Amino acid sequence: MFKVVSNEVIAPQVHRMVIEAKRIAVARRPGQFVIVRHCEGDERIPLTIADADAEAGTITLIIQAVGEGTADIVQTPAGGVIRDVAGPLGRETEVENFGRVVCVGGGVGTAVLFPLAKALAQAGNEVVTIIGGRSEPFVILRNELAAFCKDVLVTTEDGSLGVKGFVTNVLGEILADESRRPAAVYAVGPVPMMAAVANQTRPFGVKTIVSLNPIMVDGTGMCGGCRVTVGGNIKFACVDGPEFDGHQVDFKELATRQNTYKEHTCRCKNAAK
Ligand code: NAD
Ligand code: FES
Repeated sequence: MFKVVSNEVIAPQVHRMVIEAKRIAVARRPGQFVIVRHCEGDERIPLTIADADAEAGTITLIIQAVGEGTADIVQTPAGGVIRDVAGPLGRETEVENFGRVVCVGGGVGTAVLFPLAKALAQAGNEVVTIIGGRSEPFVILRNELAAFCKDVLVTTEDGSLGVKGFVTNVLGEILADESRRPAAVYAVGPVPMMAAVANQTRPFGVKTIVSLNPIMVDGTGMCGGCRVTVGGNIKFACVDGPEFDGHQVDFKELATRQNTYKEHTCRCKNAAK
């Protein structure tokens, strides 16, 4: 059992939960994730470790309540317990000193981006972050990122905060300006966003890393649920990723597989009723 230390809402249906998990807090590296199960028999949910405090023995998870499994997790109040938190899983981010890096976070994907951006800044990179959401309340971790980024640029689709439009609008301006162009781009968010970022950076030859979140079941490379095609080769996001070269990812296949599983989830839920 894992005790919930705090649980706060940071955006509509998005919770930041601090959980006691001493061993994971000590062992985890940026980019790694855990698989969480609220109760015996519940769905297993992969969640990136947004932050950790090794001394306090806690990890921070940022969770968007999108289905029954995630809704059960976010309903656990401070003082309550979660049945299973397994990890750390996945490969850690390969952190290099590139010089100038742009990190791009779409919506709740910003939670996954946060530990990567922090590790890149700690490695001596000048980190500019672009984060976007549908409107102001959906933009998360702006102040937290500002603590170590050179700049945090915000976009909203309705123009309620920052530049009106998508994160890719601002990235396009930066890439077009040779004096601001980064050596590497890290992008985390919805699949169409990561595909769009990879298409933008390709003509400039800018290294582009994306973090993928396909459906996961076991998280150990056994079930094949998280299969993705990268550079024509089959990879499993849980053990080979979750980060991959964005220019090599077959985003079309990834989007198709995600939609296929959505349909099966609905069928299972209906069958259970
Ligand atoms: P959203 O759909 O509201 O999009 C957030 C922002 O991403 C938009 O405001 C825009 O700036 C950008 N964006 C979206 N589509 C784009 C496109 N086609 N081109 C360019 N930019 C685009 O996101 P949300 O509802 O907050 O997040 C949910 C999505 O994020 C889900 O699809 C989920 O699978 C994904 N997600 C991914 C990860 C990951 O590790 N890759 C982690 C968490 C969530
Ligand atoms: Fe089963 Fe990756 S989650 S192989």
